[in-house]
Amino acid sequence: MMFPHPDIERVLISTDEIQSRIAELGRQITADYRGETVVLVCILKGAFLFMADLCRHIDLPVNTEFMAISSYGHATKSSGVVRILKDLNESIEDRNVLIVEDIVDTGLTLSYLIDLLSARHPKSMKVCSLCSKPQCHKRVVKVDYCGFELPSEFAVGYGLDFKDYYRNLPFIGVLKPSAYEQEE
Ligand code: PRP
Repeated sequence: MMFPHPDIERVLISTDEIQSRIAELGRQITADYRGETVVLVCILKGAFLFMADLCRHIDLPVNTEFMAISSYGHATKSSGVVRILKDLNESIEDRNVLIVEDIVDTGLTLSYLIDLLSARHPKSMKVCSLCSKPQCHKRVVKVDYCGFELPSEFAVGYGLDFKDYYRNLPFIGVLKPSAYEQEE
């Protein structure tokens, strides 16, 4: 799928930029965890593409776990209400956990997740997020591996959605207000 896309105002991060940054993150994670095994915890749905690409750049023994959490419903702003839709399959006790997120916006989801997963006594826990919107954070959250900082505009693509659409765009772009204004 190529730009221009009729609902996208402009591209924020191109496909090539995404892919080369993910390769860098993978190399950094590989170096930092040398000699260890890691459980990659993908936060669904948004992180599924990032997880798939990132894990192929991590040269370590990894396990893959998936957790589905929802904070937005169908609105464009975080509600602060976090629901667990699907929990992990396996215990993370005494294991190195790397949370894999697509975006940290208000930080409410991540802050909730860190509290939840810390209580399960992992050996270590870090966060890798493809994107972060620092000016939107409402909680102090540490993103150990951050791909890109985004402006506060409504971004979609590469896992980021509006009403579950646009996740399949291979780039990240700003959604035209006309694409969501009539919907809210
Ligand atoms: C998005 C995103 C993060 C969260 C970040 O998930 O994937 O998990 O919101 O927002 P926050 O920092 O303001 O809490 P969403 O709940 O939209 O579900 P999705 O991944 O299925 O799109």
